[in-house]
Amino acid sequence: MATETGTKKINIGVIGVGVGGLEIIRTAVQSPDTINLVAGCDNVPLTRERFKERFPDANVYATAEEICKDPNVDAVYIASPNRFHAEHTITAARNGKHVLIEKPMAINLKETEQMVEECAKAGVKLVCAHTASFGLPYRVMRKVIESGEIGDLKAITLLAYTDWMMRPRTPDELDFAQGGGVPFRQGPHQLDSLRLLGGGMMTQVWARVGWWMPERNIPGYYTATFDFANGAFATATHNGYGYFNLGDINAPPTGRQSVEGLVDIRKEMRAGTRDEDAAKQDLRIGGDTEVKQFEAAKTEGPGRGNFGRQIQREVGDRRGLNDTGDPGTIIVTCERGDMRIGANGVLIYGDNGVREVTGVSDVDARGEIHEMYEAVINNAPVYHSGEWGMATAEAIFGMVESSQTGKVVQLTHQVPVHPEYDSELRVVDL
Ligand SMILES: NC(=O)c1ccc[n+]([C@@H]2O[C@H](COP(=O)([O-])OP(=O)(O)OC[C@H]3O[C@@H](n4cnc5c(N)ncnc54)[C@H](O)[C@@H]3O)[C@@H](O)[C@H]2O)c1
Repeated sequence: MATETGTKKINIGVIGVGVGGLEIIRTAVQSPDTINLVAGCDNVPLTRERFKERFPDANVYATAEEICKDPNVDAVYIASPNRFHAEHTITAARNGKHVLIEKPMAINLKETEQMVEECAKAGVKLVCAHTASFGLPYRVMRKVIESGEIGDLKAITLLAYTDWMMRPRTPDELDFAQGGGVPFRQGPHQLDSLRLLGGGMMTQVWARVGWWMPERNIPGYYTATFDFANGAFATATHNGYGYFNLGDINAPPTGRQSVEGLVDIRKEMRAGTRDEDAAKQDLRIGGDTEVKQFEAAKTEGPGRGNFGRQIQREVGDRRGLNDTGDPGTIIVTCERGDMRIGANGVLIYGDNGVREVTGVSDVDARGEIHEMYEAVINNAPVYHSGEWGMATAEAIFGMVESSQTGKVVQLTHQVPVHPEYDSELRVVDL
């Protein structure tokens, strides 16, 4: 292993230096004690140049095969387009590299099985980096459910209204066969979070996928109901069409995501005048927006994962719904109480009224990187393992199948939450 002697760092290479790849780029500058970003791979020359400017000491490659042969790389963060997730994971495994895979894990169940098999055969770690479910609010809610304080989990409602369909997209993102659209791209955030809260074991799904915008020939909506083996059920909805944004309730977005900004984007789309390549490039490494975000990330730190996002209020102030970004807003219903995300923590409404709690943990919002680090350096268990990711992927594929067939789809590849997950997390009153 290419960790530096005595310093215990993990050497990471990123495959696909696009918008998703920035997750590891930002984490690397925020976590210099644990991560060395030693290599980057992208098939676009300009992106490679910009990566080299940002990280002059890193090696730069044009193909996954090359970066996976770099002896200095311990693990790869795969953020290439969805259709390459399986191929790049398998290439990494065959070259002895550990893998952090972006969501969605892959675009069909067979691919996810192959990824799990190849990583197991090669003896490398596979962490499914479905970023939203690592957020502290979900982790705190899971702990409260586990504690039994408000009784058994009964139901979960997760609701997102976003501008996902209005954001700049590449041709592969606008192709359903390549994993384009809201179910594949946003489903992992919501369904992984639901599985975490519900114990992991979904049994069946009924869903409707909506696909109705001529300018964007991919599904932009879904609503789905899942049953869990423990008797709980959950409903998840994501509307990405960008007319009403959930954020508009409390903290109306500014700029391109504002109602006015989205009106302009829609007009440009319809007129065929939108420069989508330039808009996407702006978000990638070296783009104006990305540079600002990167500078901010250097001082901000990884954050706590959605507590207090956009709304800064006093503890106990319960006005409005907190906007938790793309995964939406969540209400968890137990036998003797409800939970939702407040301004600073989780609000628990129980028999004795309402209180606000938070979590104390060594693991920040970049839990997936922490998980890989602990697994590689300290041989800790991988909680968001290939099997876990496969189960979330199955729920997404099941959702699409249910909508296509009109039937309830049985889920057969589910796995429970690892019993030791988050054992160090403590829930405390605010
Ligand atoms: N977790 C998150 O919040 C998040 C956010 C955005 C994207 N993503 C994920 O990241 C992935 C990419 O999406 P994106 O929005 O970053 O798109 P993108 O187009 O910005 O990034 C993909 C990058 O991969 C490169 N690439 C394409 N083919 C390649 C190949 N064969 N080998 C190496 N590099 C290749 C492209 O040039 C591009 O730079 C998707 O799977 C998406 O779901 C995750």
